[in-house]
Amino acid sequence: MSLVVSVSNRKGGSGKTTTAVNLAAEWAARGLRTLVVDLDTQGHAGYGFGVVAGRGDPTVHDLFGAHGGELAAAIRPTAWQNLFVAPADPMFEGVSAGADKTLLARQLRASPIAEAFDRIVLDTPPAADAILVNALAAADAVLVPIVPHTLSAIGVEQLSRLLFRVATGVDQRRRLLGIVPVMTNGRINLHRTVVDEVTTRFGRDRLMKAIRSDIRVAEAFASRKPVRDYAPRSHGALDYHLLVEDLATLWDWPATGCADCAPAQRPRIS
Ligand SMILES: Nc1ncnc2c1ncn2[C@@H]1O[C@H](COP(=O)(O)OP(=O)(O)OP(=O)(O)O)[C@@H](O)[C@H]1O
Ligand SMILES: [Mg+2]
Repeated sequence: MSLVVSVSNRKGGSGKTTTAVNLAAEWAARGLRTLVVDLDTQGHAGYGFGVVAGRGDPTVHDLFGAHGGELAAAIRPTAWQNLFVAPADPMFEGVSAGADKTLLARQLRASPIAEAFDRIVLDTPPAADAILVNALAAADAVLVPIVPHTLSAIGVEQLSRLLFRVATGVDQRRRLLGIVPVMTNGRINLHRTVVDEVTTRFGRDRLMKAIRSDIRVAEAFASRKPVRDYAPRSHGALDYHLLVEDLATLWDWPATGCADCAPAQRPRIS
């Protein structure tokens, strides 16, 4: 059974896609069969792995359109073992009136996807729309990347309110909330102040290790590679490695997969 994490923040440019891509790559490299679902029509998560849907290709957004669709049909392998992507539809024009908030959850929790993956990472758009609500309803955990500036704590509070409202309306599964400071710089006093404030407000066990500001992270994305491949000795690669360790400790989500298992296969639709 897969564990689903939604990487979400209503604020644009807060490191959601970068975190989704690099977290997924780190899990896949450790033998965990990992799927990235690119729910943002900007298509950046797919781009980060060099996977972009062409006209007429199945995408995750088919689920939300008037004709419905199977998520499994949209799943594609990447150049990395154990790492798959369901790309976005850049032409998607909006959720159909009939779409409900458990559409995505039902597909992720059912065969063949639930059996095919150990981890599912949802990259979400910077908007509180029906797609974000679907992601929160499907998630076991929500990871909120924040750039530490003055309004960050308010943003996390708004998102956690939405998460718990969606969660209580859908099922009684326990939802985890984790906050990851990103693009941090220890020499900037404000960053330290904001991270301290967020820790006080949300608790140490909700605060993950920070991802430092590192130009290699941005360069890796532009090269369509995870930073662990592009610059394995960089701060960014180390920080995403440590994030996976942190999730193992704080959430009890194992950091490695089965050593002797066969690599993941694309799930078949029966
Ligand atoms: N640790 C980092 N160091 C340096 N630059 C970073 C880091 N993390 C992200 N960036 C850069 O910050 C920018 C925004 O990151 P990203 O696209 O991941 O944000 P986002 O929240 O997904 O944005 P959107 O809301 O548009 O989807 C990108 O140019 C990315 O390369
Ligand atoms: Mg993004």
